[in-house]
Amino acid sequence: MQTITAALLIHLSLLSCGLLAEAPPETWQEHWFEHNQVVKRVFYNNDIAVYFDDQVDPSITWMNTFITDVWLYTGRIYGTYGPYGPASRLHAIFHTGRYPGGHPSTYMSASHDNRNVIDCGGYTWKNGEGHELDTITHEISHIVEQASKNVGGSPAFNTWGDSKWAEIFIYDVYKNLGKNDHMQRVYNMWINQTDSYPRANTFWFRDWFYPIYSKYGESAVLNRFYELLAQYYPKSGNWYSRDLNMGEFIHFWSGAAGVNLKDQATLAFGWTSDYE
Ligand SMILES: *[C@@H]1O[C@H](CO)[C@@H](O)[C@H](O)[C@H]1NC(C)=O
Repeated sequence: MQTITAALLIHLSLLSCGLLAEAPPETWQEHWFEHNQVVKRVFYNNDIAVYFDDQVDPSITWMNTFITDVWLYTGRIYGTYGPYGPASRLHAIFHTGRYPGGHPSTYMSASHDNRNVIDCGGYTWKNGEGHELDTITHEISHIVEQASKNVGGSPAFNTWGDSKWAEIFIYDVYKNLGKNDHMQRVYNMWINQTDSYPRANTFWFRDWFYPIYSKYGESAVLNRFYELLAQYYPKSGNWYSRDLNMGEFIHFWSGAAGVNLKDQATLAFGWTSDYE
């Protein structure tokens, strides 16, 4: 009896300091957007849990290692995500033949039961092809922007939209996981890509993120942006209280880089009195 109590106490104290994660639920009833599947847990460890709907081939396992590696790397660079210890667990849900695309949620949101979540649909997820790795990593990039430093919300989302932050994040993840072929593949995909915002023909990757990343410390400069936001940007409780305007956006990236990025911003976005 005493040993059991002692073991239980050790278990509880490990749980409370986050060294041992509780088992994630075996099934999970989706209740967000148009999702209404009961997904089944097919894998978990201390860092991630993987759930499939009934149309994903249950023999697929390649993603267990990939997601664990990305999540551990993410936790190492950008800090912890949640109150339950180092790199609080990521729940990765997969669908086949439905819900194409993906979305994230973080432990700060009740919409997904206060769990860090990536919910990815559409593909077969059979072989770990480029578009499958990119989708998974893209959704993880949103968790970084939405819960870094345990502050909720992404005040830069309106500036960079759905995928510009994701691109440099993905590039960095592949680089640091030694996935050189995928690193080169996404570089080739994005280096000449243009977007219509904040003005027509903006080369976000070529003229903004890649130069900043490669000149000012790679993952360290990316992380510093979030550190500075958490330290200085207006919050209401644990959530950011408003979006960055363009001048603030450039200011915070300059802080992260440790240099004035006005010239880089002028090249990438042009310069207006509003930005000034
Ligand atoms: C991007 O564009 C430049 C200039 O036009 C060209 O030299 C380069 O080969 C292109 N890169 C890729 C990967 O398409």
